[in-house]
Amino acid sequence: MTVTVIVGTQWGDEGKGKITDLLARDMDMVVRYQGGNNAGHTVVIKDEVFKLHLIPSGIFYTNVLCLIGNGVVVDPAVLLGEIETIRGKGYSADNLRISSQAHVIFPYHRDLDAAQEKKHEAGRIGTTCRGIGPCYVDKFNRRGIRIGDFFNTDLLRQKLEWNLKEKSFYLNNFYEMKVNYNLEEIMNEYLGYFHAVKKLVVEESSTLVNEAVAKKKNVLLEGAQGTMLDVDHGTYPYVTSSNPIAGGACVGAGLGPQKINEVIGVVKAYVTRVGGGPFPTEIAGQLGERLREKGGEYGATTGRPRRCGWFDGVVMQHAAKINGLSQLAITKLDVLDELDKIEICVAYELNGKRITYFPTDVYRLEKCQPVYEEMPGWKEDTTKVKDHKDLPANAKKYLEKLAELANCRISLVSVGAERGQIIKI
Ligand code: IMP
Repeated sequence: MTVTVIVGTQWGDEGKGKITDLLARDMDMVVRYQGGNNAGHTVVIKDEVFKLHLIPSGIFYTNVLCLIGNGVVVDPAVLLGEIETIRGKGYSADNLRISSQAHVIFPYHRDLDAAQEKKHEAGRIGTTCRGIGPCYVDKFNRRGIRIGDFFNTDLLRQKLEWNLKEKSFYLNNFYEMKVNYNLEEIMNEYLGYFHAVKKLVVEESSTLVNEAVAKKKNVLLEGAQGTMLDVDHGTYPYVTSSNPIAGGACVGAGLGPQKINEVIGVVKAYVTRVGGGPFPTEIAGQLGERLREKGGEYGATTGRPRRCGWFDGVVMQHAAKINGLSQLAITKLDVLDELDKIEICVAYELNGKRITYFPTDVYRLEKCQPVYEEMPGWKEDTTKVKDHKDLPANAKKYLEKLAELANCRISLVSVGAERGQIIKI
């Protein structure tokens, strides 16, 4: 029996979907613990590409129970669309469960997200505009509407009416928009969504998770985004509004920390970031573009081009510490196959001093210059390699360096998008 957390160690888009899909085969349960449809987890099965935003990546194994945990924020229209797509491709989504404690994204959350981004020109976060931040704000302000509220229509109407009044005032007066929400229309629309998924909703979802653990089942807790987008431990304010880190799994699934046995950090062999905010190892110019094209680095949710950079060992060490990583899954090693030389950031230089810790405020981080160590490339195709011993010598050295910087062993190396393109160590 193992309880494993899968966590992104960078700014998201590390390839968690593929790793979750791979590990899910041996799982009894997969729980998504935070975020919403800001995430895009890509799973490739034969020639089919699935982009999941809300549903855990284990859904393609019908014997694996997949739970959208209490820590997730759910846009029900997106959820239904995803269920329909999965069913349309011949998979059943009957193994899906949704926590009644998960919060619901309403149109005013999306409108607020977009309005804030528009108005705060200088401090624009570059959000996905999916309403994630405003929905979490309501959760923590105790104004949120949870899926469980849909079982009580009178209470739901009361809560929604209050929210519509408050948000309309804000949007029309402060953000100078012209919104005119209709309570009954939104009620009907959302009750329609609710009835379509009602039989999948579970009350006290934490009981489901804890029972599985008590019965010695294999449980995977799947995070979205990544450590550097964590609202507490990332590059605040250029972060998402939840806790993607391993600790967030306890909150977002309702499980005690002592129950967790393994924390797998998913690490892309280089780094990408989408949205605003400092990115010390960003590669400008043609090389950055080459990596973007070779790696298909375009947002799975918004299609935005991702900024690309060299592997950042300072970020790696920060992620290893904050998450207590016990294993690493390296992804997209093959994207580096053609490079002559590869840079690895091993420290930053800040005000003339070499530092190896990650500065917690962006003002200092913006001043950091990466200190690189250069490594020779391997200039060989790794996409068909199945065994670690068959990797080119320089690729092995590169992996060793990543493991050394993280002070953690590597258990998986992905060399392509397909399920089979994986090296188990
Ligand atoms: P939000 O989560 O939509 O509020 O966006 C906040 C920041 O997190 C922005 O920089 C987004 O680009 C980034 N972000 C959110 N979700 C993801 C993700 O799944 N992958 C990469 N970046 C993300």
